[in-house]
Amino acid sequence: MKFGAAFLALSSFVSTALAVSFIVPGAVWTDTSGAKIQAHGGHVIKVSNTFYWLGYSNAAGIAPNIYTSTDLMNWSHFGIASTAVTAMYRPKFVSSGGKWYIWGQVNREIVTLVAPGSTPLSTAYTVTGSPELLPPDGRSFSDMGVFVDNGLNYFLSSADSNNIQINNINAGTPITIGTRVADIEGSIEAPGMFKSSGGIYYLIVSQKTGWTANPNMAYWATTLAGPWSGGTNIAPASVNTYKSQNSAELVIDGTSTTTYIFLGDVWDSTGSDASNYEWLPITVSDSTHTLTLQDFAMWTVNPTTGVVTSSGFANTTFHAADAIVGGSAVIKKRAVHNIDSFSNVTFTNVVGRGDKQWVSFQYTVNDVTAGEAHVSVNGGDPINLSQLNSRAGHYSTVPVALSLKQGANTLTFGATAADNQDFEAHLESIRVFDDY
Ligand SMILES: *[C@@H]1O[C@H](CO)[C@@H](O)[C@H](O)[C@H]1NC(C)=O
Ligand SMILES: *[C@@H]1O[C@H](CO)[C@@H](O)[C@H](O)[C@H]1NC(C)=O
Ligand SMILES: *[C@@H]1O[C@H](CO)[C@@H](O)[C@H](O)[C@H]1NC(C)=O
Ligand SMILES: *[C@@H]1O[C@H](CO)[C@@H](O)[C@H](O)[C@H]1NC(C)=O
Repeated sequence: MKFGAAFLALSSFVSTALAVSFIVPGAVWTDTSGAKIQAHGGHVIKVSNTFYWLGYSNAAGIAPNIYTSTDLMNWSHFGIASTAVTAMYRPKFVSSGGKWYIWGQVNREIVTLVAPGSTPLSTAYTVTGSPELLPPDGRSFSDMGVFVDNGLNYFLSSADSNNIQINNINAGTPITIGTRVADIEGSIEAPGMFKSSGGIYYLIVSQKTGWTANPNMAYWATTLAGPWSGGTNIAPASVNTYKSQNSAELVIDGTSTTTYIFLGDVWDSTGSDASNYEWLPITVSDSTHTLTLQDFAMWTVNPTTGVVTSSGFANTTFHAADAIVGGSAVIKKRAVHNIDSFSNVTFTNVVGRGDKQWVSFQYTVNDVTAGEAHVSVNGGDPINLSQLNSRAGHYSTVPVALSLKQGANTLTFGATAADNQDFEAHLESIRVFDDY
């Protein structure tokens, strides 16, 4: 018995490293230690059965940061790849000649880091070679990406902070930027590329609006040298790519299907570590040469079969009309309308499992700039939903991770108007998912 009690105490301590069961675009994502994931402007590659996520961490001085996972949901923090660089944006892995490199943009030039061993996992990458501009014109560039085709590496960049230029990457020690392959005209940046199973090359880019999201677009070609066509939106223009900017694409070549995944950043107003991520599957139409993001509030992908799932997850729905309505809010059909600073909706008996769980709120607001909806758990301080999911207010389903105690919990949904604004929320329901 004594041993059992000690074991239980230990295992409840260890369980703070909570398994993540969903990809939730726009939400705050945590690693297996419970810390927020910091891998902005990043890139995910797969080597054997492991995914490696490389991006930059502001906290570490805009340095490359590495995470690993086998399922794209549970990410373990490996560490900062190098303390030898700072202000390195949009780092990407490049494998060449048995060595692993990180290419990142420092002061509008490429800086090359090399790993000491034969694995991408290292915290001792060192700077090698000299910073490089783009051949043949010596252009500087802003956003960058990489692409691998038939074992050859290619470099994508927003040349002169404008056109997208595709260059070869020269093998050698170290790798260097090679000849220009194509130049795609336009005021575009944030390039990422993949090749469909039908053999079409797709380039995804954003327009140029700083940290503010815009409609990202797809271009296509049958050879990398072009001609490149397109410039078609990958999501309805009004949603601004679900508030995100392209960072890279990931292809899961599964046993049942091939799944193409858009990896985007949801930047805050300064690109700080408060920024989040927007990962969504892409529907590819090789006949119309268009790409469409599949807008899922939460989803999973089986890394072996490639199969995407976006519904049927175990959950319990609570309708707002069945909850306790406080103040001047009014029930209309199954929803509660006119929730403002003087009213709220309280759900009792929300059964929790004593850990974090996803709870999705189905609600709309009159004006997303006029205030915020918030939630209070068991009488705690209200938390604005936008602190938990950057989709808050913009979408009718907003999943957020809440720590619920085991047994009955009380959740109060309320609203706060910004100064002198008229803000109202209409709440349909909440859905409490069994898992985190
Ligand atoms: C996350 O990782 C944990 C621990 O390895 C594992 O038990 C769990 O099944 C993983 N979650 C998913 C959804 O695969
Ligand atoms: C929530 O549960 C219902 C059935 O109980 C199911 O139909 C629905 O797909 C689930 N929602 C999600 C997002 O999985
Ligand atoms: C809900 O709103 C009512 C009416 O404004 C207020 O008295 C009550 O304190 C609120 N409850 C919570 C938990 O905010
Ligand atoms: C929550 O939102 C309200 C309304 O916009 C705002 O006044 C308040 O500062 C926000 N709280 C936090 C902690 O951001």
